[in-house]
Amino acid sequence: ITDPLVLFMPSGKRGRFPVGTPVLDAARQLGVYVESVCGGRATCGRCQIEVQEGNFAKHKITSSNDHISPKGPKEERYERVRGLPERRRLSCSAQILGDLVIDVPQDTVINAQTIRKDADTRVIARDSAIRMCYVEIEEPDMHKPLGDLDRLKIALMKDWNLKSLDFDFYLLPQVQGILRKGNWTATAAIYKDTDTETARVIALWPGLKNEAYGLACDIGSTTIAMHLVSLLSGRVAASSGTSNPQIRFGEDLMSRVSYVMMNPDGREGMTVAVREAISGLVDKVCAEGNVQRNDILDSVFVGNPIMHHLFLGIDPTELGGAPFALAVSGAVRIKASDIGLKLNQGARLYMLPCIAGHVGADAAAVTLSEGPHRQDEMMLIVDVGTNAEIVLGNRTRVVAASSPTGPAFEGAEISGGQRAAPGAIERVRIDPDTLEPKYRVIGSELWSDEPNFLDSVQATGVTGICGSGIIEIVAEMYLTGIISEDGVVDGSLAARSPRVVANGRTFSYVLKEGEPKITITQTDVRAIQLAKAALYAGTKLLMEKQNTEHVDRIHFAGAFGSFIDPKYAMVLGLIPDCDLDKVSAVGNAAGAGARMALLNRGYRREIEETVSQIEKIETALEPKFQEHFVYAMALPNKVDPFPKLSA
Ligand code: FES
Repeated sequence: ITDPLVLFMPSGKRGRFPVGTPVLDAARQLGVYVESVCGGRATCGRCQIEVQEGNFAKHKITSSNDHISPKGPKEERYERVRGLPERRRLSCSAQILGDLVIDVPQDTVINAQTIRKDADTRVIARDSAIRMCYVEIEEPDMHKPLGDLDRLKIALMKDWNLKSLDFDFYLLPQVQGILRKGNWTATAAIYKDTDTETARVIALWPGLKNEAYGLACDIGSTTIAMHLVSLLSGRVAASSGTSNPQIRFGEDLMSRVSYVMMNPDGREGMTVAVREAISGLVDKVCAEGNVQRNDILDSVFVGNPIMHHLFLGIDPTELGGAPFALAVSGAVRIKASDIGLKLNQGARLYMLPCIAGHVGADAAAVTLSEGPHRQDEMMLIVDVGTNAEIVLGNRTRVVAASSPTGPAFEGAEISGGQRAAPGAIERVRIDPDTLEPKYRVIGSELWSDEPNFLDSVQATGVTGICGSGIIEIVAEMYLTGIISEDGVVDGSLAARSPRVVANGRTFSYVLKEGEPKITITQTDVRAIQLAKAALYAGTKLLMEKQNTEHVDRIHFAGAFGSFIDPKYAMVLGLIPDCDLDKVSAVGNAAGAGARMALLNRGYRREIEETVSQIEKIETALEPKFQEHFVYAMALPNKVDPFPKLSA
C-alpha cells in the first residue's frame, strides 16, 4: 500500500507521507512555508491550515476531513482558550490519515485588531529574515555548570534545527532575568538573512511571544510612505505618510545636493530632518496599529540614490555630477540602531541595492514589485517624479535609466499648477466646435458644466491644476487644434473664441475665469513638452538598447501614474505606442517592493541578483538622447507613429 498523497495549496507542492505524519512536518519537508512560533507545541496558533474536501481529479485525490486525525487534547485546549476559526486546524497537531488537499491560508491573524482592509491586499509568500522561536530551557543544575545562555542556545539549536547560533551582545545581561521570568521558557527572535551568515538571536522575551512586526518605507523626495507589517501573518497593520521635511532645503533633488555643497552642516541637517520624519511616522503607524516600537524587529527602506545616501548619513555630492558615483550600490544590512532609529534594540535594517547613480533603491523596489525579469513580455515601467526612473525589459534582459523630466508633471513651474490635492483640476475636456472647456476637480464627482458643480466644490473652490489635469488640457488643446503639433498656440483662433487670448507676443488659453483665473500659457505648454520629451527620449534610448520597436505593457508607478489617463499620456507622446488596455497604474510599487523584501528574504536575493544584471544607461552620456529629445518635442512625436491611438 502506498503512503497517502498530500497536496498543499496554493503552492501546488505535493508528496507522499506515512500515516501519522503531522501536517506541519509534511509541509516542512516539501518546503511549504507554514509559520510556527511554538515549535509544534500547539500553543502559538500560527500553523493553521484548512482541509479542502472533495475530489481533485487533476491530481486523482479524494480529500476529506476523515483523512486527518481528530483534534487531540492539546489542540482542543488551544481551541478552548484562544479559539480556532471554523474548519481551521493546527498543522503541528493534525496528522495525515489519508490523501489530503491542504490550504495554507495567508492570513493567520491572531490579534484581530491588527487587520486592515484597505491596504494593498497582495498576498506575499512569507519567509522573513526574522523567525520567532519558542523554547523550553533546562533549569540550572549544580552538577552541570552550563550557563543560562548556553542552555538556551542548546535548546534553540536542537528544537529549531540550527547548525550554529550567535547572540547580540546587548542580550547577555538580560538573559538571566528573562529565563526566570518565563519560568524557563522563552521566545527568541532569530535573524538570518543570507545563507552564508550565522543565525543570530536579536531579541528575547520570557514565555511565548506571538507577534513580530516590520516596517516597509519608501523615502520619496516629496513624500515618505510607511507600512507597519506583521512579520508572522504578512498583514499590513497600519500605513501612513508624511511630506519629506527636506523640502525646506530644496524642492528637487539637485537643489538638495547643492545645499549640501554650499553649507558645511547641510548634509547633517538633511539627515537629521529625514530621520526625524521617519521616527514620527513610526509613532503614527504604531499608534494606528496598536503596536509597541519594541515589537518591531526588522525594517526595509527604499529611496532614490540621494534620499538613500542622506538617510544613511552619506554625503550625496558625488551624485551631483558625472560619473555619479554611489558610495554604496549593493544592498545595505545594518542594525536600525546604527542610524539611531529606535525600534527593538536588536532590530535590523535593510536597504535594497541602487541600480545606478541616478536610478535608486526605489526603482529596484518597483522592479521587484512589477517583475519585468519574471516574464516574457517587454514591460516598460515609468516612475514619474522630478526625475523619471525608467525600467524596460523581460526575462532575457532588463535595462534602466533616469530622465530629467523636471517638476512640470507635478504641477510645479506651470502658471496655474499645483500639487494633486482637493480643489485641483484633474480632468479637462474642450469642445472642438466652441473651444469651451469643462473640467473636474479633485474632491468632486461633477463636471464644471453640471448644475450643482459649484456647491460640490464649495469646501475648497477651484484652486489650480495638477499634473494629470495639465496633461489632459495640453492633449485636448492639441486634439482641438488650439496648439499645433509643435506646441504653438494658434493666435488666429482668438477671433473665433474668447478663450484664446494674446499674452505679449504669444497666446494663452483661458481654462477658468474668475478668482483664481487659470490660463495655460505658451510657456506652460513648452514646460510640458520639455518634460514629456525627456521622458520619451529616455524610454526610446532603452528601447534601442533592447533592440525593440514596441513595448507590450506599460506600468505607471507612483502617485502621478494613478491619476493620469493613459489615452492622454499617449496623445501627448509621453509613452510609446502600446495597447491602451495594457497601460496601467500600479500605485506605490516602491512601497510594495519594500514590503516584499521585508516579508521574504528570497525577494532580497532576487532583486540583488537582478540589479547586478540590469544594464544602466546614462542618458546624459548617450549621443542619441538629444536627437530623440528633439523629435519628442512634437506632439505626439515628429517621427514615431502611434497606430494604437488611431485604432
Ligand atoms: Fe504553534 Fe502549531 S506550531 S500551534
